[in-house]
Amino acid sequence: MHQDKEPIGNLRFVCIVTLIMGTIIQLSEEREFAVDMSEKGLTHVPKDLPPKTRALDVSHNYISELQASDISFLSRLKMLKLSHNRLQRLDFSIFRFNQDLEYLDLSHNRLRELTCHPVVSFKHLDLSFNDFDVPPICKEFGNWTQLNFLGFSATKLQQSDLLPIVHLQLNYLLLDLGRYHVKESETESLQILNTKTLHLVFCPDNLFSVQVKIAVNTLGCLQLTNIKLNDKNCQILIKFLSELTRGPTLLNFTLNHMETTWRCLVRVFQYLWPKPVEYLNIYNLTIIEKISKEHFTYSRTALKALKIEHITNRVFLFSQEALYTVFSEMNIRMLTISDTPFVHMLCPQAPSTFQFLNFTQNVFTDSIFQKCSTLVRLETLILQKNGLKDLIKVGLMTKDMPSLETLDVSRNSLGSGRHEENCTWAGSIQVLNLSSNALTDSVFRCLPPKVKVLDLHNNRITAIPKDVTHLEALQELNVALNSLVDLPGCGPFSSLSLLIIEHNAVSHPSAHFFQSCQKITSIKAGSNPFHCTCELREFIKSMGQLSSEVAEGWPDSYKCAYPEGYKGTLLKDFHVSQLSCNIALLMVTIGATVLLVAASMTCLCVYLDVPWYLRMVCQWTQARHRARNIPLVELQRNLQFHAFISYSEHDSAWVKSELVPNLEKEDIRVCLHERDFVPGKSIVENIINCIEKSYKSIFVLSPNFVQSEWCHYELYFAHHNLFHKGSNNLILILLEPIPQSSIPSKFHKLRALMAQQTYLEWPTEKSKRGLFWANIRAAFNMKLTQGTENSDVQT
Ligand SMILES: *[C@@H]1O[C@H](CO)[C@@H](O)[C@H](O)[C@H]1NC(C)=O
Repeated sequence: MHQDKEPIGNLRFVCIVTLIMGTIIQLSEEREFAVDMSEKGLTHVPKDLPPKTRALDVSHNYISELQASDISFLSRLKMLKLSHNRLQRLDFSIFRFNQDLEYLDLSHNRLRELTCHPVVSFKHLDLSFNDFDVPPICKEFGNWTQLNFLGFSATKLQQSDLLPIVHLQLNYLLLDLGRYHVKESETESLQILNTKTLHLVFCPDNLFSVQVKIAVNTLGCLQLTNIKLNDKNCQILIKFLSELTRGPTLLNFTLNHMETTWRCLVRVFQYLWPKPVEYLNIYNLTIIEKISKEHFTYSRTALKALKIEHITNRVFLFSQEALYTVFSEMNIRMLTISDTPFVHMLCPQAPSTFQFLNFTQNVFTDSIFQKCSTLVRLETLILQKNGLKDLIKVGLMTKDMPSLETLDVSRNSLGSGRHEENCTWAGSIQVLNLSSNALTDSVFRCLPPKVKVLDLHNNRITAIPKDVTHLEALQELNVALNSLVDLPGCGPFSSLSLLIIEHNAVSHPSAHFFQSCQKITSIKAGSNPFHCTCELREFIKSMGQLSSEVAEGWPDSYKCAYPEGYKGTLLKDFHVSQLSCNIALLMVTIGATVLLVAASMTCLCVYLDVPWYLRMVCQWTQARHRARNIPLVELQRNLQFHAFISYSEHDSAWVKSELVPNLEKEDIRVCLHERDFVPGKSIVENIINCIEKSYKSIFVLSPNFVQSEWCHYELYFAHHNLFHKGSNNLILILLEPIPQSSIPSKFHKLRALMAQQTYLEWPTEKSKRGLFWANIRAAFNMKLTQGTENSDVQT
């Protein structure tokens, strides 16, 4: 949130942005033809490079020589990076075939000699950090009107060396003066060129001693690297700066790797205070010797922002107050002091001009700015990565900051206090960053009432309590990386439009969220351990209906974690049917199906007599089976009839009108005991005679038959064991039902036969009679007809 509010950070780069932008845009077009061969241990430029190569990086290798043949075939080469190699000399004529070459980085080599060539010209030429004695500037440079960036090293600087380029309009001039020879008592005066940025690099090991007076036109950015100062040579730097800081255009001043006494640092500040510099940055500052109280006059200043990043303090015993007062009383708008061992910052004594304070990564404690009522204009306060522990105290700190809008206390050790009732906040706070602390659920009882953006990611929140203070203005809530198990409802956060709840423990998100949060314009809920069960369907459906701008990360970061079978499946691909998820519906369906089946079974039984058909079909099958098993020979014995029919007088009408005609129609010859009985023989003799001459015996069973006829047969069965092999030759037709109980108990055989249910029932319905006759026919198999015919011939 503060990045865009913090111009210092941006302005650090403002000077070089114009320079780089052009290159970057071109580079991105060329990316596909970029070849990176850096750090490959090369001693020569490889010969097998694609001829289309536009950008070649062979930096950080061991190349000591470069010849035309190495690169002339790369006719489209635009950018060549050769830094950090071992080149000692170079002749620009080797680039005469590389007409497009405009970017050449030769920094950090061992170049001593350079030969120029009239057809070669560059936009970016870096010759810095080499072993040149005099500036390697040929007269040809003067024609490079496109030259944007020039870097070189020199041990001497003379006006005459720079003459070829004084008329050029550079963007960036990098001057490596690391091996610059100081000529005692002699100050040279150089009117150098026109450049927007001048970057001077001095020797890291020596005290600052360069006395040359450099004047630059249109200088907007000045960067000095490696400044080593003590109380004695402090004045040399100030003198050195006097020429450079004269122009009204110098707005940005940056010092990299500065080692100084506290006294000298304050003098530098004091020197710059009335200058036109607006942004002063110091990166990598080391304070040496001692820190004592220095007087500082906070006169009117153009300075808007002071930024110091990374301070090493080599002074161990000192007055903290002497150190902090210089900063806390500054009459500027923005102050950044980050990555330092500072334990505190003082409250300004008078109403302060600070609007922006950034104290990232120090060792401040909860006592910071307690009861401080002079930061009246402060809008942004960043205390990221310090030692804050108590949220209540942080709230109290803001109480007297009436303009505070943005507070970043992320990456501290804040826990939610136990005395939420004492919780006070500046009412003006709109953005509060509490991320990466140790806050728990109760943090929701101690928050600024008008907060719009709340970042609570990476804390220890498990649930948003029901009774939280209502945050009517809250628009953006980030609770990623906590342990929440469900999406929050928007009851207490009626304006919520953005919710980030990734990486929590949300397994069954309730779709209720979408009803309660009508104003949501963006939700990020991916990377949670979703349980892919029925309950998730509503949520999946709701997410699927959102547009891709609203449902961020959908569908790719929403995966099932459970059940095992679905692990890793995208939620969007998880489908379960309506039926299997709705228990009531499922029960109703099963119930209905069972009822329907039962009803149709009953129907079939009642109206179509299915059991009867089943029984008949079963017997028919058995009959066919039996018939197949009977050997032909056996059938050919003296058989005169196919069937002997026995029946009661009472049933003779049926036998004569139905049974006999139907059998004879099939050429089945029958022996009727009335028709074919031999007179003079006893009934039993006749019966035996008839049975023995017939292949099968048909008994037409009815109650009358049982009463009147069966007695003969019981007797017969008792005396002759003809049926002992089973009842294969016996066909029982049940003309009328006979209750088992009505069969006299002495009729053992009949009882047994009836119990086996091997009889054929005469159906009363006409429609079933076809099957009945088919069963009868099946009992007399066709082969048998043939067989009996044979025996007929014999008789
Ligand atoms: C809160 O601070 C963290 C760094 O600690 C940062 O990554 C995050 O973007 C900040 N949140 C907001 C809303 O600016």
